[in-house]
Amino acid sequence: MNIAVKPGAAQDPDVRAIPLAELNPARMDRFQADTIWPLFARLRAEDPVHFTPESEFGAYWSLTCWDDIMAVDTNHEAFSSAIAGISLPVTANMEAQDKAFAELGVQRRRGGAGFITMDEPEHSTHRKAVSPTVAPANITKMSPIVRERCGQILDSLPIGTPFDWVELVSKELTAMTLATLFDFPFEERRKLPFWSDMFMNIPGHGPVTSWQHKAEAALECFTAFQGLWDERLDGEPNNDLISMLTHNPETREMSVEQYQGTVVLLIVGGNDTTRNTISGSVYWLNKFPEQYDKLRANPDLVTNMVSETIRYQTPLAHMSRIATRDVEIGGKTIRAGERVVMWYISGNRDESVIADPDLYDIERERPRHHMSFGFGIHRCVGNRVAEMQLTIIWEEILKRFPVIEVIGEPVRTYSSFVHGYESMQVVIPART
Ligand code: HEM
Repeated sequence: MNIAVKPGAAQDPDVRAIPLAELNPARMDRFQADTIWPLFARLRAEDPVHFTPESEFGAYWSLTCWDDIMAVDTNHEAFSSAIAGISLPVTANMEAQDKAFAELGVQRRRGGAGFITMDEPEHSTHRKAVSPTVAPANITKMSPIVRERCGQILDSLPIGTPFDWVELVSKELTAMTLATLFDFPFEERRKLPFWSDMFMNIPGHGPVTSWQHKAEAALECFTAFQGLWDERLDGEPNNDLISMLTHNPETREMSVEQYQGTVVLLIVGGNDTTRNTISGSVYWLNKFPEQYDKLRANPDLVTNMVSETIRYQTPLAHMSRIATRDVEIGGKTIRAGERVVMWYISGNRDESVIADPDLYDIERERPRHHMSFGFGIHRCVGNRVAEMQLTIIWEEILKRFPVIEVIGEPVRTYSSFVHGYESMQVVIPART
């Protein structure tokens, strides 16, 4: 049984009644309930450069239209990633968080670290050190291993019995690709998505039970990666990410804090995003069965479908910056020091740039014309790795299963940053 088809957006009538000045588009409960779409449609139409003076994230500006988002994303001098992180901060219980980390002696920089939260020239130095690992030549080398491992994952799935697609496929595929990129012990690969979930959630959500629990997971992760650093530092240069960092003179001397930030960035960057696109592809193909029919009839559409899913899902709903000087956008002045949120999830539905944007259409003429990887100097460095994994898994799925049926609404992530799925029950009725 397919889930009910609801083309376009889920409905949230309340959002139309809220005075504009009170709209806080980052509310995580709306993301979890999937009621965000009318809210963003309203902001695009009525207040594309919107200010929320007070919220659980502090005060922030929201940009919801393509051109305004692009203006900020491509102006890294006026909009900093380093001052206060690239996502909306969860300010509640900041003291409890800091205390739990301090008690375990885990160093922690608010807003994160890693080169995603650096400005120039430091950012480029660090980015260049890892870029070769995710460059086309290395991706081509990795592809056969990824294909083989995809086959193993798919061949182990139950037939005719419901199971959680997120757990058995999405997490497993991203874990194994990341383990390959890091040259991380393969048998321990599931620690990578676990740590990613621990980093990205707050107590009561995902696997996180308390701040103490979160701090313990961070300590475990950093200890394991310190071990890899020490081992690679004196080893032969290799083309895995850690070896590249230890053998590059520019990054070899980086601080422990910077290394940990880079590790978190690569684990989270490579995990949630790709994982939620894999889940999203199954979900949206079920929501739009005529698109699934087209894909089955013509497997050459896989590449297009992957890009359309990345647009439609927008696995990272936003990125954020701090203005370094006063800048006018859409007739409003953003003052130096203020936070700006670029809602990629809304820019990807901007009807003035993308035709019929609420339609999931795997035959779009320019499927890579989307904002999901960002633009400018921080544009996703892993975008080709993500596309490679997603393309390969779908090529292998189409060889094996005529249909994957979603058998209920998924449980969505409680976050306005990661736009994804905690679990999604599916059934594969038969093999090809
Ligand atoms: C569909 C999958 C993915 C999506 C939607 C995505 C999205 C993004 C976005 C929006 C940014 C821009 C950040 C900003 O402007 O501040 C970014 C940066 C980044 N992503 Fe991805 N990502 C994906 C997959 C990956 C993968 C597989 C990796 C690693 C293997 C990765 C690693 C990174 C890194 C390291 C950065 C920081 C780049 C920089 O600051 O220069 N991402 N990603």
